[in-house]
Amino acid sequence: MHTTTTVRVLAATLLLTTLGACRGSEAADPATYTPIATVDQVMDAIVVPSSDAVFDAVVYENGALVQAPKTDDDWFRLQMHALAVAEAGNLLMMPPRAKDTGEWDMFAHAMVTSGAAVAKAAESKDVEGLLETGGELYRACAGCHEKYLPKE
Ligand code: HEC
Repeated sequence: MHTTTTVRVLAATLLLTTLGACRGSEAADPATYTPIATVDQVMDAIVVPSSDAVFDAVVYENGALVQAPKTDDDWFRLQMHALAVAEAGNLLMMPPRAKDTGEWDMFAHAMVTSGAAVAKAAESKDVEGLLETGGELYRACAGCHEKYLPKE
């Protein structure tokens, strides 16, 4: 009887300890991040290919729509590219990539929110919305580059 109780208490303690450890790792401590890519590499690896897919998705010629996503697959891929761009905005906010906590942060946030808005437009297969949110995304790129691109 006594032994059983001891075992139960031990088991409960172990369980609590394990849960505690899990909670600890869930609340991702920034000190545990391991940034690998430079800003330039994040651009080349994620931002450029994914945003190209967004910017090239809808094409007008002389006011006529000549290209837009067609199949469910097209729209889904576009949505995923937009999510990749949005998340890359978070990567840019992380030290040591973040250049400061002012305008850099603002443009990186703009990339997150406009990327998320593109993803939403793609999810609802909204061509007009895609153009509008794609424009917002483009302004986030251009704004940050204007200020932070190394001058030659
Ligand atoms: C928060 C700031 C920021 C945002 C937002 C941003 N970039 Fe960049 N980008 C940079 C910086 C800084 C560099 C230069 C990195 C270096 O050379 O070390 C760069 C470099 C680049 C390059 C390489 C340019 C070159 O001449 O080497 C491309 C292409 C690029 N970005 C595309 C984009 C696109 C497309 C977007 C938007 C979808 C975007 N970037 C959003 C900061 C940003």
